[in-house]
Amino acid sequence: MTVPILEAKAITKRFGGVTAVNAASLTVGKGQIVGLIGPNGSGKSTMVNLVTGEMTPDEGQFLFNGHDITAQPSYRRARLGMARSFQLLRLFSSLSVEDNLVLANHMRMQSSLTASILDRAAAREEEAAARKRARELLAWFDLQEFASRPVTALSIGQQRMVELARGMMSEPTLFVLDEPAAGLSPPNVDRLIQLIRRMRDEFGMSILLVEHVMRVVRDLCDHVVVLDSGEKIAEGEPEAVVKDPVVVEAYIGTGWKRRAQG
Ligand SMILES: Nc1ncnc2c1ncn2[C@@H]1O[C@H](COP(=O)(O)OP(=O)(O)O)[C@@H](O)[C@H]1O
Ligand SMILES: [Mg+2]
Repeated sequence: MTVPILEAKAITKRFGGVTAVNAASLTVGKGQIVGLIGPNGSGKSTMVNLVTGEMTPDEGQFLFNGHDITAQPSYRRARLGMARSFQLLRLFSSLSVEDNLVLANHMRMQSSLTASILDRAAAREEEAAARKRARELLAWFDLQEFASRPVTALSIGQQRMVELARGMMSEPTLFVLDEPAAGLSPPNVDRLIQLIRRMRDEFGMSILLVEHVMRVVRDLCDHVVVLDSGEKIAEGEPEAVVKDPVVVEAYIGTGWKRRAQG
């Protein structure tokens, strides 16, 4: 096991009578890609929201680089090095691809932006740096030709890449991806797998990956955690986990077994 970047310790989250996450623990090591899988309603998105600080757990503790961040709101966690992507894309449809990335930077730098109203030179400098980084990232994702196009002119597959590029504007050390392969065609799934692997290899990023497409999980993940009704029912190497009878049982009737083997 490498040095942990993220530790979720016995996390519980209830919504009224529903225990969405029940004393679940997981660890992401530095430079690791950890998969989080489970049937619909098993608590994956809730766990993502708890990790990134959009929700607060009822019980349990989160450590980031060994520091307790349980009480930190999401913007603080973002500043500490966390980024996330959303299952349903949250891009600004009226803006160009490049402006979506630059705006993400402004939203993250809110406090400095306020300060910079008093200091136009600093504001211009910050914007120039953000534009430079946006262009570099768009080139890295092979999207440079779309930089000035409205984001809606791109295919869903390309928009997903823009979403990843946007997350990387903040130079995160932990990127939490919620179903990045949703709605992608098989060739685009292949591209996505390669890109996520390169994000880890070239930027040394750690990744927590919620994913339904089993090929993505098997190809990318060093370690997989399985939730069922909010509880962790299995974890380990992907090949072993998808064959685990407890895991197969949890998925029976969901069509997952067929997909896992296909
Ligand atoms: N904001 C919420 N309010 C009430 N119940 C919720 C909320 N979010 C999720 N749940 C419930 O918590 C459980 C886990 O949901 P979720 O985390 O979305 O699962 P998954 O992402 O694995 O499909 C489900 O029973 C769901 O209905
Ligand atoms: Mg979900």
